[in-house]
Amino acid sequence: MLRRREFLHRSVAAAGATLFTKKFSSPFFAPASSADSRIEIVLDEPLGVISPNIYGHFTENLGGVIYDGIWVGEDSKIPNVNGIRKELIDAMHLIKPPVVRYPGGCFADSYDWRDGIGPREKRPRRTNFWAGEESPSAPAAHKYDPNQFGTNEFVEFCKLIGSQPYLAANLRSLSAEDFYRWVEYCNSPQGSTTLADTRAAAGYTDPFDVRFWGVGNESWGCGGNFTSQEYAVEFRRYTTWVPAYGRTLSFIASGPNVDDWNWTRGFFEELVRKGKSQIRSVYGWALHHYAWNLSRGRTQDWNQGKGDATNFDSVDWYELLREGQRMESLINGHWQIMAENDPEHSVKLIVDEWGPWYKPGSEATPGDLLEQTPTLRDAVFSAMTLDIFNRHPEKIAMANCAQLINCLNSLYLANENKFCVTPVGHVFAMYAAHQGGQAVRCMFSAPDIHYDRDGKPASFWALNGSASLHDKSLVITVVNPSVSESRETQLVLHSAKIKSATATVLTHSDIHAHNTFDQRRAVTPQTKNIDATTGTLAYTFPPASVTKLALELA
Ligand code: AHR
Repeated sequence: MLRRREFLHRSVAAAGATLFTKKFSSPFFAPASSADSRIEIVLDEPLGVISPNIYGHFTENLGGVIYDGIWVGEDSKIPNVNGIRKELIDAMHLIKPPVVRYPGGCFADSYDWRDGIGPREKRPRRTNFWAGEESPSAPAAHKYDPNQFGTNEFVEFCKLIGSQPYLAANLRSLSAEDFYRWVEYCNSPQGSTTLADTRAAAGYTDPFDVRFWGVGNESWGCGGNFTSQEYAVEFRRYTTWVPAYGRTLSFIASGPNVDDWNWTRGFFEELVRKGKSQIRSVYGWALHHYAWNLSRGRTQDWNQGKGDATNFDSVDWYELLREGQRMESLINGHWQIMAENDPEHSVKLIVDEWGPWYKPGSEATPGDLLEQTPTLRDAVFSAMTLDIFNRHPEKIAMANCAQLINCLNSLYLANENKFCVTPVGHVFAMYAAHQGGQAVRCMFSAPDIHYDRDGKPASFWALNGSASLHDKSLVITVVNPSVSESRETQLVLHSAKIKSATATVLTHSDIHAHNTFDQRRAVTPQTKNIDATTGTLAYTFPPASVTKLALELA
């Protein structure tokens, strides 16, 4: 049973503040006097520049992500560009994808990059890391990697969508030399090495110029079951004297699972045992957090604790968001521990796997491993997570949503010639406007949401978001997580006037709403102009919604 509590109004130090009003040009606008919530934007309190790479993606050779999702092959009847699904390329142009991680995930630590270069017809078939998890009906390509999509095709994909590649190297089952050779294959100048010639023979004379290199993945688990100290020793070894070809390589170390503080502390303590300067070898510390446990405290069992992607009640809705909200304390907690050995914070956090993880059953293509159907709940979750990243621009250098297509928190679903953008994909399109913006402080005041968690009271915040500024363009993104209550809100903007404004809203009357191959536009954002005349800007955020307010300042 949901109930609302009295709202505690936050006082506003508004000396010199300019307040603006708008007329009510849509059902989402309400008189300022009825507002029970407030958003204050403090333009002269910059938090840092939002790295575009926070809006990054992840594509693992897992289930239908690569084969069917991205790669359809040059001879396919499915429209493609050099073998890559054209509809995906076109859709991705709308989200300005800055960076894509590949080939895993756990797959990365079983992958030999050499299998995926050279003439495609000569490439070997190998057992995929995930083969044992695949259903008997899964396509052969999902179990036995045909290696038709390798480094060349991945870099081609990145070029077509305007992204930078982020390659995850195999630390568990290949040597440091193999890692150097992969760097050499990708980055050595034309004609300089045998591997540069091999690359040229495939049609790529210019170096790929790959900057981001992951050194193992989940090295505490599938990536080798190391202790944090053992992993730090390996990290030092793998990253010492890697050929750079005149560019800076940014090494990303395999960081903690969720709140494994010991992994973070142990790694950095061991790393600097060889001297403080070792810190400089790490560009990013990779944190993974999946929101999976919807058991309401009943179990920590990985299989038992998961919820259903499309069949859920309002308590499940809030429980998922609570799991996701943990991201903020994980960022702060690991950041603090990193400071023990890196007080200047030269190492940044890279959240290179995040999203909800449900039990099987909602696959758009039955049999696709780890595929789930994202609903409006996942859109709200994703917006909330991106807002968290935006609020910590000095800490987060990159984040990669897991995973791009036909997988966990996917932006797209595809099967053969069918394709759709999920509500999560729409959130990425809405939030692209934050990329590279100056994050500014914004304060949200709203009555908390209260709900009954199996006989015990539980609560969740009622309005939150982030704001960023590009010159005179201010973008404010706001999540209203309530399944039933709209939020009548006053927007207060310190030291600026609004010239014009639009609101883009993603919501639906059914919290389970999602897009399918047949109903591709069930959940789509709507954009409206806001009449931004003088006075106080009032706006009503509908229940279960993600909103982007785009303001042009005078
Ligand atoms: O994203 C699916 C898997 O989750 C990845 O392969 C692994 O890194 C994580 O455990």
